[in-house]
Amino acid sequence: MINIPKGTKDVLPSESYKWHEVERVVRDLKHRYNLHEIKTPMFEHTELFIRGVGKSTDIVNKEMYTFVDKGNRSITLKPEGTAGVARSFIENSLYNEPLPLKLYYITPCFRYERPQAGRLRQHTQFGSEWFGVDSPEADAEILMMASDFYRSFGINPTVLINNLGCAECRKKYVETLKEYFKPHIGDMCPDCGKRFETNPLRILDCKVDECKAINKNAPKITDYLCDDCNSRFNKLKKLLKNANVNYKFEPMLVRGLDYYTNLIFEFIDEDKKLGQNALGGGGRYNNLVEELGGKPMPVIGFGIGIERLLIYLENKGIEVNSDEHLNVYVANACEDLTPVIEITKMLRDNGVSAEMNLTDRSLKAQFKYADKIKAENVLVVGDDELKSGKFTIKNLKESKQTTLTKNELVKYFKG
Ligand code: HAM
Repeated sequence: MINIPKGTKDVLPSESYKWHEVERVVRDLKHRYNLHEIKTPMFEHTELFIRGVGKSTDIVNKEMYTFVDKGNRSITLKPEGTAGVARSFIENSLYNEPLPLKLYYITPCFRYERPQAGRLRQHTQFGSEWFGVDSPEADAEILMMASDFYRSFGINPTVLINNLGCAECRKKYVETLKEYFKPHIGDMCPDCGKRFETNPLRILDCKVDECKAINKNAPKITDYLCDDCNSRFNKLKKLLKNANVNYKFEPMLVRGLDYYTNLIFEFIDEDKKLGQNALGGGGRYNNLVEELGGKPMPVIGFGIGIERLLIYLENKGIEVNSDEHLNVYVANACEDLTPVIEITKMLRDNGVSAEMNLTDRSLKAQFKYADKIKAENVLVVGDDELKSGKFTIKNLKESKQTTLTKNELVKYFKG
């Protein structure tokens, strides 16, 4: 037998309703927040992620699914959604659309990571990227939307927020950080030794105990924010408070992707219902479009892991709404199936969810099967019913029986 590749997961028929609910919630947000869907390819030129996500990140260094195609091009399965959307925005001149342009996507992402519960080699992200807005109001609104997404499932995870500052304040901060870390390099892990050269901010994110201890006393970005960054950040916090967004300021938060400027955030699992504690994350990236060859363009976005959300809900014992309702199972007690097909078709044509017997099971076995597949009703079509024009419907939930004419059936099932 050939098994599923490590770090991947089948969505089985018994749980696909959860994915339908995620899609329904996303469509509802699309409607309420005026989002537009964008679909980009599953693979891109490797260079896009090297330049977009960043050379010093774990994603680019260790986790990409990269291969050379038959045309000798280096191709990578997308490890995240943002870089492809930014590429498409530039390539298709979407800057000519009325701005702000609020996009969304649901996409598989591929990262060669060490699999664990909630950490997969293929995972799915619901992401949203808002082009052409650069205000604390936009920052607040996108966080309100992400919170709305989680609230639709009955949860309200904390969102940690931090501010990496604009280019000016960040430059000053990185210099100070380097000065602080310099005497400690020998005590830090080899990865942080490299980060010191490539991206010292990422040292703050290190999970190794020695580095964590050094990080405790590291200078905080918020002490280096310029007046403008400071007042925007304060405004954002006020707006989030007014909108009841469950946020917490975390000055040590940094993210594992290089493109962020200013605001960054992460939705976390505070009650540790998930091995991996980030449910979703994002931030502002005002330089990426220009770095990829476009005009300067402020953008803010997020990515939410769907598999992690579903594990989190399950571990918290929260049920996901189901769209699986079979109104009626049409059982037959007659030899000729033609009238059974006709009645089933009439029901379906009128929007009733109906299943008919396709086997040679006895009537009793058909009732058993209908119960197993959770049909709400069974409609029996037999010679007697056809002759009298009266059909018996048994409601399996309430063990109630009703007799109706053919013309009354649709109305009855549609309630
Ligand atoms: P990210 O934090 O790398 O950000 O991923 C976003 C979310 O995807 C994570 O919080 C997590 O829920 C989920 N995720 C990531 N890796 C895995 C994995 N291996 N297995 C399961 N779930 C995973 C981004 O990808 C950015 N593109 C987000 C963004 C959009 N920033 C701005 N716009």
